[in-house]
Amino acid sequence: MPDTLTIIDNRTGKQYELSIANDTIKAMDLRQIKVNENDFGLMTYDPAFMNTASCKSMITFIDGEKGILRYRGYPIEHLAEKSNYLETAYLILYGELPNKPQYEEWVHNITYHTLIHENIKKLMDGFHYDAHPMGMLISTVAALSTFYNDAKEIHNPESRKKQTYRLIGKMPTIAAFAFRHSVGRPYVYPDNALSYTANLMSMLWKMTETQFQAHPALVKALDVLFILHADHEQNCSANAMRSIGSSHVDPYAAIAGAAAALYGPLHGGANEAVLRMLDEIGTKDNVPSFIKGVKSGSGRLMGFGHRVYKNYDPRAKVIKQLADEVFEVTGRNPKLDIALELERIALEDEYFVKRKLYPNVDFYSGLIYQAMGFPVEMFPVLFSIPRTAGWIAQWEEMLLDSDQKIARPRQVYLGSGMRDYVVMSKRK
Ligand code: ACO
Repeated sequence: MPDTLTIIDNRTGKQYELSIANDTIKAMDLRQIKVNENDFGLMTYDPAFMNTASCKSMITFIDGEKGILRYRGYPIEHLAEKSNYLETAYLILYGELPNKPQYEEWVHNITYHTLIHENIKKLMDGFHYDAHPMGMLISTVAALSTFYNDAKEIHNPESRKKQTYRLIGKMPTIAAFAFRHSVGRPYVYPDNALSYTANLMSMLWKMTETQFQAHPALVKALDVLFILHADHEQNCSANAMRSIGSSHVDPYAAIAGAAAALYGPLHGGANEAVLRMLDEIGTKDNVPSFIKGVKSGSGRLMGFGHRVYKNYDPRAKVIKQLADEVFEVTGRNPKLDIALELERIALEDEYFVKRKLYPNVDFYSGLIYQAMGFPVEMFPVLFSIPRTAGWIAQWEEMLLDSDQKIARPRQVYLGSGMRDYVVMSKRK
């Protein structure tokens, strides 16, 4: 059987044969389908990219029906159990797990790029006392673009490597400084003797002690959360990263845009929205009436549903198990009972079952973050730190893909035809 698709245009009776590769036809092959020579040719209409592959990728595999997520072929559950965030970031970026010298060099390079320029600190000082840390993170990452002019050399692999170290190294520092600014505490500089996540915790919570000692179980839990959030193929922010990057702007400007896309409550801002929702529900007894409200269209059940997963989000499964380990150290987050009841009812309710709405990564992550002491405003920030590796990998793959050009979708124009300008005195 040939790998082709035969199309008959009933407007003209003409027949076309399009080739199929990887279960995909090329949208540009439709352009030849015309009613007459002056016709522009057929396009597809696909708002929100519901059924359009915008790239070929070798980074992350998701099977939404089966609830499978793999980075470079490795199941997320195995990485969560056996790897650590920096090793996973290396895997995502370079395609293979590092050997020992590669790993040590990688960790060294990230660790020695954690400091930020003192002027960045001054810039952060300028934010209002109640500035949202995610807004601060987005703006500050954009500002990094003005500090590293070499970042404009996006076609130079050495320059890309350098910006990768800087971005992955500095994100936790900027995130922690944003938090310290919001609570009026002095900034804590990075401690190179600590691991990636232990250092972040030190920069967030260290007071006057010589070295901050985070609980090892919590350091491990945060590291696992970072692994789970490191990449997720062509989601809203990855798509933003590729789209902005396709104009060949430097990676700091592109990451600021990707982080802005992540900030929204339908994407990475959902973990913050989940906690606000649980607060609004208040007690377990109010769950049935809340669910009723969601079904009648008064709002969404935040942390539920996903564009790709039509099954339990595999990250949510790992997080649910992790929650028990964290609560053993921190004490149980009382909102867990409300979340469990929401999940129990929703998974039995026809509305959610019919629409295949299951808990996503954000449903339980916020409960863990809160139990660990992070304020809700920090949740999207905690998502952005590990996702930086994914954004850079997606950006680099896009830059090196000879099929890619500047991202520029088409539109179906339905506005006015040509009209004559009317002077103001004659307008109705
Ligand atoms: N609560 C109630 N109903 C929902 C929910 C929800 N959380 N999610 C989807 N639905 C319903 C929609 O109303 C729609 O119903 P309809 O067919 O009767 O109109 C149907 O399910 C399909 O929903 P869409 O919005 O078409 O699905 P889409 O793929 O566009 O949206 C999204 C996916 C944005 C994640 C959505 O499920 C949502 O808003 N969830 C809540 C926000 C959230 O948790 N976001 C985090 C996603 S994970 C991440 O980004 C890290």
